[in-house]
Amino acid sequence: MNGKEITNVGILGTGTIGSSWATFFACKGLKVKMFDIDSAILGTGVQKAKGNLEALVGYGLIQESIVDELKRNIHPVDSVAQLLEETDYVQESTLENYEVKTKVFSELDDIASPQAVLASSSSGLLMSEIQKATKTPGRCLIAHPFNPPHLIPLVELVPGKQTNLQVVDNVKVFFESLGKIPVVLKKEANGHIANRLAAALWREAIDLVITGVASVEDVDKALYAGPGVRWALMGQHLIYHLGGGEGGYRYFIDHIGKAFGTYWEEMATWSEISDESRELLVKGVEKSMGGKNLGELARWRDEKIVELLKVIYD
Ligand SMILES: NC(=O)c1ccc[n+]([C@@H]2O[C@H](COP(=O)([O-])OP(=O)(O)OC[C@H]3O[C@@H](n4cnc5c(N)ncnc54)[C@H](O)[C@@H]3O)[C@@H](O)[C@H]2O)c1
Repeated sequence: MNGKEITNVGILGTGTIGSSWATFFACKGLKVKMFDIDSAILGTGVQKAKGNLEALVGYGLIQESIVDELKRNIHPVDSVAQLLEETDYVQESTLENYEVKTKVFSELDDIASPQAVLASSSSGLLMSEIQKATKTPGRCLIAHPFNPPHLIPLVELVPGKQTNLQVVDNVKVFFESLGKIPVVLKKEANGHIANRLAAALWREAIDLVITGVASVEDVDKALYAGPGVRWALMGQHLIYHLGGGEGGYRYFIDHIGKAFGTYWEEMATWSEISDESRELLVKGVEKSMGGKNLGELARWRDEKIVELLKVIYD
């Protein structure tokens, strides 16, 4: 199906990510059906999706006069079969493990119309493994958002070994037409692009704390007050191209880049966080809440994200 022809979307799994996806698609005028195996979570997911639309009015991103109309785009349903009736595109947002994803994809594939695209929000699983459970693997791909998907522009599109690349192109056009910023992976990697980068950075952020180099608060500050300010505008490669001055990236790599070799040699390579480290980190992060509770901090973050996005993407 051509990306611009997608008008009916089905959200399977209506927790944190599914409910935010529902807001995003409803806000763009698409008809959105939602289903969750837990009917209580379906109820709260629908409420959250509609509440997010009201918050968008508060942020000045949508007009109050159309919010009720946008809310009417959201329809909870009672079964996967109902979810898939006349649905062009499914955004699977259930639990992050192969057992659930393969079961769910097999069911979706059996019932969905042959033209429907089946996308997974998976943060880092491989579509090649998931699509083995389907009879028509060509229409299956990963479309990984960043939380919350109704605000953050990035979506990572990842084909599995059996995905039809035309489907990936169509989904890219679909997301571009909705104003998202899609990136397409040339081949699969656990964690895709952004979470792999985050994993490398997070390990070092933890290691600096557990080896006593700095506090949780100062490690976080060194990110948001320094490189984080630039990261909202450009990525590491372009940043270092500018960092090389007239000589650009080549100069940066040949000269300043050499010093990085020493840091890389010293860096941590562990792949498990010990219980003791976890407790140290949790204590540290509680100190950096600045007197706000979780809800207040999340609202503050979302309001600031919206202000940033308005400045950067107009
Ligand atoms: N939370 C994040 O920051 C984030 C960011 C990007 C992507 N993701 C990905 O999105 C997906 C969902 O994550 P989440 O954080 O929203 O999880 P969540 O636990 O909040 O929601 C998952 C929902 O799936 C439902 N579910 C489980 N099995 C189901 C089934 N068979 N049919 C229908 N519903 C079912 C659960 O009842 C639950 O409500 C995961 O694959 C995750 O990796 C999460």
